Amino acid sequence: MIGTGYVGLVTGVCFAELGHSVTCLDIDKEKIEELKSGISPIFEEGMEELLPKNIREGRISFTTHYAEAIPGADLVFLCVQTPSGEYGKADLSYVYSAVRECVTHIDEYTVIVNKSTCPVGTVRTIKELINEIVPEKECDVASNPEFLAEGVAIHDFLEPDRIIVGVDSSRAEKVLREAYAPLIDKGSVFLATIPQSAELMKYASNSFLAMKLSFINEIADFCELVGADVNEVAYGMGLDKRIGTRYLKASIGFGGSCFGKDVRALIHRGEEEGYEFKMIKALIAVNNTRYLTTINKLKKHLGNLKGKTIAVLGLAYKAGTDDTRDSQSLRIVFELLANGAQVQAFDPRAMEHFKKTFARANEIIFSTTALETADSADALLILTEWNEFKELDLTALKTKMSGTLIVDGRNILDRKIVESAGFTYEGIGR
Ligand code: UDX
Repeated sequence: MIGTGYVGLVTGVCFAELGHSVTCLDIDKEKIEELKSGISPIFEEGMEELLPKNIREGRISFTTHYAEAIPGADLVFLCVQTPSGEYGKADLSYVYSAVRECVTHIDEYTVIVNKSTCPVGTVRTIKELINEIVPEKECDVASNPEFLAEGVAIHDFLEPDRIIVGVDSSRAEKVLREAYAPLIDKGSVFLATIPQSAELMKYASNSFLAMKLSFINEIADFCELVGADVNEVAYGMGLDKRIGTRYLKASIGFGGSCFGKDVRALIHRGEEEGYEFKMIKALIAVNNTRYLTTINKLKKHLGNLKGKTIAVLGLAYKAGTDDTRDSQSLRIVFELLANGAQVQAFDPRAMEHFKKTFARANEIIFSTTALETADSADALLILTEWNEFKELDLTALKTKMSGTLIVDGRNILDRKIVESAGFTYEGIGR
């Protein structure tokens, strides 16, 4: 497993749990030392248990040396980052450098499997690269896109909706099928396609889900104009099996390290082919201005935000993770500060990441509890759907705050209960 980020570490630990012998490699020495002692650099449900267990039982090990990880491996999974480069183009430099490093250590037939999210055509480019460097080595290249969502990644790996591999060699397909055999035997769908199709499936899936989110967010705004309730509308729509109820929760907008990056990369890949993705561009445009909905709700009640104290509950881009990458909270907090508001913030998991990644973190007062965050606040914003925010003590909150406005950016509170506790309630699309 090359790379020990979310995908590499989860895949490595899960393959070990399935009974395989796994070596995880990362160039970050500190991270590898921590992992060796069973400490995970990421917060992921189930990781605290499975990581030390598989180390103890001898199925997973960690190294910074390719010479230790590669010889003897049947499969090498590339799980390195593919950040957004110029104009949204996926930056594949980490992928290519991992390929260069690993191929020289191949000693017998190996399948190099790309799990990093890479544009259509990358398997072919990797093959060409290998042929240039070590034409004599016996190996195949495959794509195996990863669909796991953070927070439920281990569950998603062990109980996948589908396992997709893009291969153009039956030998490679056989090795991959064997690796996934414990899941296939339990009923998981294993779909082998040509590499280009597998590569595009990942981008098309993420874009489709992001499109559902931007779609329901547009409907939510319209619900507010006509007095409809988006939760009811989404549920009613979702009962149609062709639509489905998932990914229809209206919100402050989507975030996370994948949706925005992957959608932009697909648009860019289209441009390379002279093709324009009109619908996909529109979903990004909707999400890019989504944060203003929250800001405007505050302004509607408080007027100018200068000098106002705003309590922000939730910094992670969704509940169940400590990740703040591309979180809408970053945009909203930035906009609050730009409007001259004083921000008090709390998140049960993500405060450390937020402090590290948000340039103006020193202007924010971070609290240790949700209630403390509300101290003398003119308004309270709920930006992440953490369970503990669903159970806020409204009576205590009322005494703490100086104002009465609650903007529920995740529709997790009951309007009637909140209003009867003496608050003004603003949800999303209802
Ligand atoms: C996503 C894909 O789901 C996963 O398949 C892919 O491999 C990586 O990208 P992830 O980024 O972990 O996973 O998060 P996800 O749970 O999909 O949520 C993305 C964003 O959409 C979050 O900000 C979340 O709050 C938001 N969301 C999700 C909604 O606003 N409403 C919903 O109904 C669902």
